[in-house]
Amino acid sequence: MFIEKSKYTGFCSGVKAAVNKAQEILKEEKKLYSLGEIIHNKDVVDELGKKGLIIINDIPEKNDAKLLIRSHGVGKDIIEKIMKKNITIIDATCVKVKKIHKIVEEYCINGYDIIIVGDKNHPEVLGILGWCNNKASIIESIDELHNLKIDTSKKYCLVSQTTFNTEVFKKISETISKNYPNITIHNTICDATQKRQDACVELASKSDVMIIIGGKNSSNTKKLYEMSKKVCTNTFHIENYKEIPYKYIDKNTKVGVSAGASTPDWIIEEVIKMSENLNEINDMNENQNGTMHELFESYGGVSYIRTGDIIKGTVISVSPDAISVNINYKSDGIITRDEYSFAQVPDLTEVVKEGEEIEAQVVKLSDQDGNVVLTRKSLEEKKVWSDIEKLKEDGAIVDISIIEASQYGIYGKVNGIKGYIPRNQISVKRDVDPS
Ligand code: F3S
Repeated sequence: MFIEKSKYTGFCSGVKAAVNKAQEILKEEKKLYSLGEIIHNKDVVDELGKKGLIIINDIPEKNDAKLLIRSHGVGKDIIEKIMKKNITIIDATCVKVKKIHKIVEEYCINGYDIIIVGDKNHPEVLGILGWCNNKASIIESIDELHNLKIDTSKKYCLVSQTTFNTEVFKKISETISKNYPNITIHNTICDATQKRQDACVELASKSDVMIIIGGKNSSNTKKLYEMSKKVCTNTFHIENYKEIPYKYIDKNTKVGVSAGASTPDWIIEEVIKMSENLNEINDMNENQNGTMHELFESYGGVSYIRTGDIIKGTVISVSPDAISVNINYKSDGIITRDEYSFAQVPDLTEVVKEGEEIEAQVVKLSDQDGNVVLTRKSLEEKKVWSDIEKLKEDGAIVDISIIEASQYGIYGKVNGIKGYIPRNQISVKRDVDPS
């Protein structure tokens, strides 16, 4: 099998910026609201959810966390409502969507009627609507254009949803401008979308099977699927490697891979890697019966893992500096002394024994020697934080050794985590010198 990845896949700049913003905030804060799904990808949403991102569909009643506006943006009225509640807004509206807000707002003020080409239920379209007083005609096909009652005495401004199908937009704008010269057309389809769609169709035209990766509710992924299907009948829309259409792929198949704007690189790489593995399975099982999926599952009797997974394994050997772990995968896992604990462990053989079960998190699927790189520090950190939370809930008093002092206060460690006593909390006496 020959696999080719489309030239333009993965997160677009707008989605990437929104996810990065959320990640940055969640480093500092334990809770962050997102008005609507930050990205149409379940794996990414789940991952951010573990860090404290809460998806909400309405403005929160309580002002107990910041509120992120996703790349689709929202209407002006929504922004105003949020501000009235004094909730801090983290605005991750994509700049290209903001540009559309500005266009419709200005044209609306200047007496134009607005036409939006897009999906009337899509949040981006609803957001645009909110910048032209919630008054606009929304169409998504030539048929809908024909049903539109246009008043030739009026002025119109037409914009598009950023992820709209470029071919359909072209047809709509050509038809409308022929019949109604009194219209100003702004092609606001995002370049990233255009490039992604063109590259996908080009790849589809030379592939036997096309795999389009992305959330089932991602509008731009669905469009890639529709466009690819027109040139390659065997086009499949999948969310992750579990849905690879095995039965359409054999050793001689040319497989093209494209992905929507909400699909992170690691999911794309995972699909490619798993598809490549099919070559090996084909070789191993040339004469065996069974579906590709069954063969895949039985491939070496191994489990499948990916970066970030928390897995359990059995210690095969221990040296003072590293632990080798059988993780029921094609390669063994390795935990170095540095990755074993935040605490100083001079010799790992004193704390870990062969045959012991050990839990760790996958950092990298392969180091230079082919081992799976594991860490226990992230698990230890989670446990330490929940212990500290408990101390706080109990109002516990803890003994610490001071490790540092500055003009602002004194510092020490609680269960290995650096803590801080502000200068004015050191003593009832005022203005104590921390040093
Ligand atoms: Fe923005 Fe284009 Fe992505 S509009 S959110 S960069 S698809």
